[in-house]
Amino acid sequence: MEVKDAIFGRRSIRKYQPKDVEDEKIREILEAAIWAPSAGNTQTWRFYVVKNPEIREKLMRASYMQKQITEAPVSIVVTFDMDEMDKFYGRRGVELYGIQDTAAAIQNMLLRAYDLGLGTCWIGAFDDGEVSSILKIPATERPVAIITAGYPAENPSSTRKPLKDVVRFVE
Ligand SMILES: Cc1cc2nc3c(=O)[nH]c(=O)nc-3n(C[C@H](O)[C@H](O)[C@H](O)COP(=O)(O)O)c2cc1C
Repeated sequence: MEVKDAIFGRRSIRKYQPKDVEDEKIREILEAAIWAPSAGNTQTWRFYVVKNPEIREKLMRASYMQKQITEAPVSIVVTFDMDEMDKFYGRRGVELYGIQDTAAAIQNMLLRAYDLGLGTCWIGAFDDGEVSSILKIPATERPVAIITAGYPAENPSSTRKPLKDVVRFVE
């Protein structure tokens, strides 16, 4: 698939077919994630792959009942290690680079998943403490997003503001 087709064709998918995602596809999505750029190539991101339905149910509740988490056969929780980032870049690293690095990794995941015929949804609305406790994520890590993935059961459209509203050419 052309990169541009993935960029423009990908949509957030919130309805999924009751069909498992092959482990090899999950591995390919994770491989795409770790090839994203990161500040100083520090790679402080961490990925928690959740297939267990009971744990996904708990994650769904920690995410204000967002049902796509129980519908999709797999969720990947993306975090970064704040201590490790702090050692390299201090406050700017923890407040900014960790978020940017994980966001770049997540976008790679969404695009590669689309390339593999899968749908995804980037979920940012959840209770951080609850998600950390459900997955026993170390206190040094901050959960940034939950990514659901599965075979899509919908074909939604989306819109964007025109470029003129968001771009300024500076002279
Ligand atoms: C930081 C971030 C947080 C998001 N959080 C949620 C969320 O909690 N629940 C949800 O259904 N979608 C969430 N989304 C998906 C957006 O709603 C979606 O990307 C946007 O509406 C554009 O639609 P599209 O992805 O289909 O182009 C989030 C996206 C981003 C980048």
